[in-house]
Amino acid sequence: MTSSSVPSVVTQRRILAPGLVTLRFRNPNVAHNTIAGQFVNILPKAGFSDPMLRRPFSVYWTQGDEAEIIIQEHGRGTGILANTREGEILDVLGPLGRPWMFDSADYMTAVLLIGGVGVASMPLLTRKFELDEVPLHTFYGARTSSLIARDHLANVHIATDDGSEGFHGSNVMLLRSYLESGKLESPKIFACGPTGMMRAAQSLAAEFSIPCEVSLETEMACGIGICQGCPVRTEESVFAVTGRRYRLACTDGPSFKAEEIVL
Ligand SMILES: Cc1cc2nc3c(=O)[nH]c(=O)nc-3n(C[C@H](O)[C@H](O)[C@H](O)COP(=O)(O)OP(=O)(O)OC[C@H]3O[C@@H](n4cnc5c(N)ncnc54)[C@H](O)[C@@H]3O)c2cc1C
Ligand code: FES
Repeated sequence: MTSSSVPSVVTQRRILAPGLVTLRFRNPNVAHNTIAGQFVNILPKAGFSDPMLRRPFSVYWTQGDEAEIIIQEHGRGTGILANTREGEILDVLGPLGRPWMFDSADYMTAVLLIGGVGVASMPLLTRKFELDEVPLHTFYGARTSSLIARDHLANVHIATDDGSEGFHGSNVMLLRSYLESGKLESPKIFACGPTGMMRAAQSLAAEFSIPCEVSLETEMACGIGICQGCPVRTEESVFAVTGRRYRLACTDGPSFKAEEIVL
């Protein structure tokens, strides 16, 4: 299915926490064709040229002809988007990128490792695993309890940096304790969050010899493989086989096998 940019009216805005907002918009193409892990590239205000470049967001949820994104305010683009009102129009390009590799035959238990707004690509993945009846554990790390976006997740184990809810510490430490106690049968990690968390997931997966995929939030511009603005460095072993030092986050990713890339 080719993607073209479509003016999409915002039908719902929800404030989850200060600086954390969801926007629901009408876009049948995105709503019906997105597969878990794909993203949309959005111009915050259709018809305006400031900001000039689109901003990428995972598709957080789909229902009927509508899709939803979750926005963590970061800079100018996310600031404008987070303050968009119902009835305003977004210019939405997508769905883009490769989905999560949930069809690989190398695991029996799905482990979703979420850091902060990395939650964005997990609800659709959760829906897929629930439909396929794949056992699922979600390890969700946040700075504090009020920043947790709880919708559409399942079997959630929470870890907070300030100890306000669940395990006091990182979600990777919590996952480690589950792996050490053998509670997870033949797991595969699907990780999205800050780079530090993903590096820790990479090492943990290598240590326990389990498959791991990481979804990157690399800065992007075009989102469709043209500008070469989203390089992801590959491991020497991958380079030796493919001859490709870099891959593109937007078209080769955003998710990659953890052992194949340098974070
Ligand atoms: C696949 C993917 C999914 C994502 N999903 C989500 C999500 O669901 N929710 C969420 O909150 N965040 C998500 N992010 C992160 C989000 O896209 C960024 O936080 C957002 O782009 C920041 O935009 P900003 O204008 O607020 O920040 P700023 O820091 O003001 O601007 C960053 C953007 O400005 C442009 N830019 C900045 N510097 C340069 C430069 N030197 N050269 C060229 N261009 C430049 C680029 O377009 C860059 O992406 C995702 C990122 C990716 C890649
Ligand atoms: S963002 Fe342009 S090539 Fe990836």
